[in-house]
Amino acid sequence: MTLDGRTVVITGASSGLGAEAVRLLGERGATVHAVGRDAERTRRVGGRHAYTVDFARLDDVRRLATELRARLDHIDVLAANAGAVVPRGVTADGIDAVFQVNAIGPWLLTTLLADRLRGGRVLATNSRSHRGAVIGDVPALAEGRPPLPGHRAYARAKLAAGILLREFGRRHPDVDVGDFHAGILATDFGRYLGERTGRAAKTAARPFLGSPADGAACLVALAERDTPLAGGHHTRARPARGAEQLYSPDLGRDLWPPT
Ligand SMILES: NC(=O)c1ccc[n+]([C@@H]2O[C@H](COP(=O)([O-])OP(=O)(O)OC[C@H]3O[C@@H](n4cnc5c(N)ncnc54)[C@H](OP(=O)(O)O)[C@@H]3O)[C@@H](O)[C@H]2O)c1
Repeated sequence: MTLDGRTVVITGASSGLGAEAVRLLGERGATVHAVGRDAERTRRVGGRHAYTVDFARLDDVRRLATELRARLDHIDVLAANAGAVVPRGVTADGIDAVFQVNAIGPWLLTTLLADRLRGGRVLATNSRSHRGAVIGDVPALAEGRPPLPGHRAYARAKLAAGILLREFGRRHPDVDVGDFHAGILATDFGRYLGERTGRAAKTAARPFLGSPADGAACLVALAERDTPLAGGHHTRARPARGAEQLYSPDLGRDLWPPT
C-alpha cells in the first residue's frame, strides 16, 4: 500500500530506528504520530504530532490510548517499535519491568486501539534474540520468573510480545499483523546495559552494526508492503522463521491477559 496520505502511529519514536522511521515515513507522505517517553525529545522528532507514554505504567498507556482515540478515527499502521533492556524490577502495576515494557504495555496499547486499526496493520519491532528464548510457566512471567540476566529476560519478553501480537491478529482478523528483526543497529540501545558497559560494547562493535536508517528502511518497507504480513516474522524486510513458540495459538490464549 502506498503510505501517501496514510495515518501511522509509531512508538519508540524519540531515538534510534524509530526517529529515523518518522523521517522516512514523512517523506513517503504519511501523517506520522510519534510516541516517545520524553516529551521534549519526541516533540523534536514528531513536531505537532508528538505524544508521550511510559510503558512501565499501564495507567499512562491507557491515557495515551484515550488521547490517540480522541484524535484519530482510523490508524493505517501502528508501528510498535518501543523496546528496551530495562533494569530488573517490578513496576507500580506489580509486573516484572522488562516483561511489561516490552510485552504487556505494547499489548495494552494495541488492544485499546483495535477498532481504530480495522483494515490496518500492526508492525512490531522484534529481536532475533527471541529465538533463543523459551516460555515455560506462563503465570510466572509477570513475576519475572525464572529470573534471567538482562538480555535474556529481554529476549523472553520479545518472544511474549510476538506471541501476543499474533494472538491479537487471531482475535482481530480485520487487522494485519507481523514483526521483524531489523539487524543489530548502532542506536543508543546499549545505554540500558549501563553507561560504561553500553558505550564500550557499542564502540567496539560499531563497524559491524547497521545504521538506524537501515533499520528504519526495513520498517518502512514492511509498513507499505502490498501483501498482508499475515502473522509473519521477518529478518530485515525478508520473511524469516521465528521461534516455534511465536506461532503457538495455545500460548497466545494462555498469555492473553484478562481484560
Ligand atoms: N539496536 C539493536 O541492535 C536492536 C536489535 C534488535 C531489536 N531492537 C529493537 O528495536 C527497537 C528500537 O530500538 P532502537 O535500537 O532504536 O533503540 P533505542 O534508540 O534505545 O530506542 C528505543 C525506543 O523505545 C523507547 N522506550 C524505551 N523504554 C520505554 C518505555 N518504558 N516507555 C516508552 N518508550 C520506551 C525509547 O525511549 P527513550 O528514548 O525515552 O529511552 C526509544 O524511543 C526496540 O524494540 C528494540 O528492542 C534493536
